[in-house]
Amino acid sequence: MDAHIQSFLNKTTFVSATMATVILLSLLAYTPHTCIPSSNSSSRSSSSSSSSSLKFPKSTCDLSHRSFTTLDTKNRRLWSTSAWLNKVRAFSLLFQDLSSPSSFLSNSSRSLCLLAGAGQEAVALNQIGVDDVTAVDLVDSPPLVSRADPFNLPFFDDAFDFAFSAQFDVVLFPARFVAEMDRTVRVGGSCVLVVEERGDDEVMEVVRLFRRGKLVEAINITFTGLKMTRIVLRITSNSTSN
Ligand SMILES: *[C@@H]1O[C@H](CO)[C@@H](O)[C@H](O)[C@H]1NC(C)=O
Repeated sequence: MDAHIQSFLNKTTFVSATMATVILLSLLAYTPHTCIPSSNSSSRSSSSSSSSSLKFPKSTCDLSHRSFTTLDTKNRRLWSTSAWLNKVRAFSLLFQDLSSPSSFLSNSSRSLCLLAGAGQEAVALNQIGVDDVTAVDLVDSPPLVSRADPFNLPFFDDAFDFAFSAQFDVVLFPARFVAEMDRTVRVGGSCVLVVEERGDDEVMEVVRLFRRGKLVEAINITFTGLKMTRIVLRITSNSTSN
């Protein structure tokens, strides 16, 4: 019985090895024709700027030059979508509210937007008249958003008058994130966080993460159709002991 199994296994192994060798040899012998540079490649590359030479690649080894969608075109498409426009409008209203009845923000504020995504906040700030806007995220989105580590911002202490983020709920290290906001905003400047709706205790948990920031207001708002809480802090000179 054991001998039968042994001989069966030997045969199977032999057949498998033979098949693998044949497949390997056939793969080596066969070169996909799309990988062979075509004889008129030089003439094609010389006319590569003309759109007539653009064609859909036949396979992944077709390395001929293709022009990709330019950033301008991509942005123009993105900036005309209703999702984009609605978001910008929502941010505009929010910032307007922070500047006009309140005075947490003015046209001359050096502003910082953290985890700014595709940059709707930056556009909104520009629209209401704030010119000096720095928007950063882990991934850049030119020309609106630059790449920077929100937990280790490449800015001097007290460099800004106003710091904003609507992404505090999803940050990995909330304390570190807040510490960088607290550090880069000058005394007298404001930090604004828009978070999922929170009760007073939960708001105070956030506020306690600030070293120099003192709570000015925490109000519930409706933002892009969602119930959110807007937390505003003012940076003060006397830091808390903890
Ligand atoms: C801020 O800028 C906006 C848009 O340019 C303008 O309408 C507004 O009057 C400015 N506000 C102040 C206080 O200068």
